This record gives sequence, C-alpha cells and structure tokens, in this order.
Amino acid sequence: MSTAVLENSSAPTPEAPVEAFTVTLIIRRFDPDKDSEPRWEDFDVQMFATDRILDALHKIKWEQDGSLTFRRSCAHGICGSDAMRINGRNRLACKTLIKDLDITKPIYVEAIKGLPLEKDLIVDMEPFFASYREVQPFLQANSAPEKDKERIQSVADRARFDDTTKCILCAACTSSCPVFWTDGQYFGPAAIVNAHRFIFDSRDDAADVRLDILNDKEGVWRCRTTFNCTEACPRGIQITQAIAEVKQAVLRGRR
Ligand code: SF4
Ligand code: F3S
Ligand code: FES
Repeated sequence: MSTAVLENSSAPTPEAPVEAFTVTLIIRRFDPDKDSEPRWEDFDVQMFATDRILDALHKIKWEQDGSLTFRRSCAHGICGSDAMRINGRNRLACKTLIKDLDITKPIYVEAIKGLPLEKDLIVDMEPFFASYREVQPFLQANSAPEKDKERIQSVADRARFDDTTKCILCAACTSSCPVFWTDGQYFGPAAIVNAHRFIFDSRDDAADVRLDILNDKEGVWRCRTTFNCTEACPRGIQITQAIAEVKQAVLRGRR
C-alpha cells in the first residue's frame, strides 16, 4: 500500500525577521528645581514597530536618563495614568504603537495641556479630580433595596448609560478641550461624562442635584461642541453626545 505525501499549503512559514530601527523622540522636559521654562530634549532609541510610546519612554528612562518623569501603572489602557500629547494629539502612551506614527519624522511627546505642569510629563491632576468629585459620581438612592434583593434594572435602562461607564479618568478629553484651556473653571467633559453615568441610571435618585450643578456658568453650557474630547477619548466614549444628552436633560428639568 502506497502512502501519498500531501503538501500542506497551510503550514506555518517563518515570519520575516523584524528589524529594530532608530526612533527620535523629542520630549518636552521641565524640572521645577532647575528650569524656569520647559525645554525640548531629543532622544534616539532603538525600537521595534510593534513597541509602544510607553516602551520608548521606559527605554529612555532605564538606559539614558533616569530623571525622565512620567506616570504609568497598568501599561494596558486600563488605569488612565499615562495620557500625554503625542505629536499634538492626546493619547495613552501605552496604547500608541510606534508603527501607527510617522517614524520618518521625530515624535513629539509632551504633557497634557490645561493642568499645572509639575515635572516633565506629569501634571497636577487635582483640579481635574475636584471637578469630578463635584458632580457626585456615586449612586444615591432614597430607598434601600428589599432585603437580599438587588436593585432591578431593565436591559434598556442599563443601556442608557452604558457608554459613559467606560471612563478611566485619564483626562485626555478635558485636557484637549479648548474651552478648558482658556477657562480652567469649566467642569470639563470628563466630569460631565461621569455625571451622565449616574444622571441616566434608573436606580439613582440624585439626577436633579447633578443637573443643577451642571446648569452653571461653568457647566454644560460652556461646551461649544468642538468634538476634541470625543476624538481624544481612548475608550471611544461618545462624549459630545453625552454632553448633549445632559444639556437636554437640564432643559427638560429631569432625565
Ligand atoms: Fe479619559 Fe474618555 Fe474618561 Fe475622558 S471620558 S477621562 S478621555 S476615558
Ligand atoms: Fe470641549 Fe468636547 Fe465640548 S472638546 S467644547 S467639551 S465637545
Ligand atoms: Fe494604565 Fe496606560 S499605563 S492606561
């Protein structure tokens, strides 16, 4: 009995070798102990196309200049700590692949705008979180649920605020908003997103309180529908739409 030898056309073939190449990062540096003004500094690093900007920053910090200062924690787009301006656009460094940028040119990296610069890529987030706290971003129910029972919510009611549950408080939206750049008192899109998350939650009883807070001269009416926030959001939240829904709820006087 003869045995046929079949050619397996779907057999895996070795991947083409991936070459490292030199990338130039131009980083806006600021050391409050030494600098009166921020300054730009160049770094050449050997990177692979599939590396991220966060990998490049680590490489610079670990191999070239340990004083380079930036925030990061999860490295996977969850904690929201490494929002920065990369080539003029707010992004998370851990979600920005080098191959998605124009590597024939230097890559500019700087801190997000509109918040006080502390050091290198770190800003003081306190004004951002102060606005967030002000909109009362927690469930407030007037009655306790039945003993041993959950608060029931329909699928449709849950869907009403699903998009705004995705926020990771990275501040990419608020710090990309031209209104916020010129008026740091504006609540900003992130605070409104987090108010939306509870205003439209059928289990919550404090929607009117939050609508009153946002019906302020520094509230929703400061939004000029510029859409920078929606473009910047690493979670893909339809922020401008959420702000429009809160505006409509303010006008109706209820959700
Ligand atoms: Fe970041 Fe998006 Fe939340 Fe704004 S809405 S803080 S951009 S996750
Ligand atoms: Fe600012 Fe976003 Fe409104 S960028 S103006 S909050 S649509
Ligand atoms: Fe956590 Fe980028 S390091 S979101």
